[in-house]
Amino acid sequence: MTAVRTALGAPADAYAVLHRCRELTRPALAEAVGRMHPWVGEMAAYSFGWCEVGGAPAVASGGKGLRQALAVLGAEAAGAAGRAGVPAAVAVELVHTFSLLHDDIMDGDGARRGRPTVWKAYGTGPAVLAGDALLALAVEVLAAAPAGPRAVRTLSAALGDLVRGQADDLLFAARPWTGPRRVRPEEYRAMAEHKTGALLGCAGALGALLGGADPAAVAALDRAGRHLGIAFQIADDVLGIWGDPAVTGKPVHGDLREGKKTYPVLAALAGADAPARRLAAALEAPAAPPERWREAAALIDAAGGRSAALAEARRHMAAVADALADASLRPPAVEELRSLLEFLVRRDL
Ligand code: IPE
Ligand code: MG
Ligand code: MG
Repeated sequence: MTAVRTALGAPADAYAVLHRCRELTRPALAEAVGRMHPWVGEMAAYSFGWCEVGGAPAVASGGKGLRQALAVLGAEAAGAAGRAGVPAAVAVELVHTFSLLHDDIMDGDGARRGRPTVWKAYGTGPAVLAGDALLALAVEVLAAAPAGPRAVRTLSAALGDLVRGQADDLLFAARPWTGPRRVRPEEYRAMAEHKTGALLGCAGALGALLGGADPAAVAALDRAGRHLGIAFQIADDVLGIWGDPAVTGKPVHGDLREGKKTYPVLAALAGADAPARRLAAALEAPAAPPERWREAAALIDAAGGRSAALAEARRHMAAVADALADASLRPPAVEELRSLLEFLVRRDL
């Protein structure tokens, strides 16, 4: 995704940014998790990649911590020290983890980051409970921060959107590929903004809020995160069809096999040419052998689905760059944000 990279300028060292923000957040996050019921806290620590089932120190590494970085950088973009954003960073990491625990149950996914998901390892009931506990802890942490009531209101709004996006995502699975009930690209964009963008936007906005930013700066970071979420989701879809499974960690053509309403397919079906018609017929045919999915991937490309998806992702990354150009945001933090966001979307496209 070279052109996406261009929209955001030259990358700085995104890994160093992530590392710095994780180091800053980790003590407060560990302290919060340490206050949980020990069994529930173990499930939380397991999903953070800190321990194995049973509590032994982890061999695996955890997530990148992108949301906590957005919160820390949000505070810095407001002109405050990064540590002002730490309660926001802790809260968004807890919420993100909560959403993944419950999402893996909803999606029936047995593995995440190369390990059994929490519901697979501990059982569905315990995983639901751990998710609930993580959400409650996030609210508690944020409510105790300066500007607590406003911060909690901001988080609640993002959670409402996240639920809206998850609901649409679940409902889309049962909708047909073609005809009047088909999923339109604009419905997909709203779903992705809600499901993924709302929390990314909330992370930067909350950090800025705790850093004392003016409302325009808070809104700019929220907008950036929302566009980022859409670009990220579309990039994920493209990788799911044409990415190298050894790099993505996902089974080849998994989304196609599951009938997921991904952007490249929706965009391809929006055309009325011969490849689009053949693609619709292929997708609607009953279960078929693996080579069918290879053919479908080629038809999506021929019908313009891949290029339309990349163009759409680029448009949203340009909107991210526009939002970050808001005059009230401080330049050094904005540079770090640029490098980080580019890292998020680029991966191996
Ligand atoms: C997860 O969405 C989004 C939330 C947890 C709200 P997906 O189901 O599309 O993402 P992965 O592939 O499980 O991470
Ligand atoms: Mg999922
Ligand atoms: Mg899901």
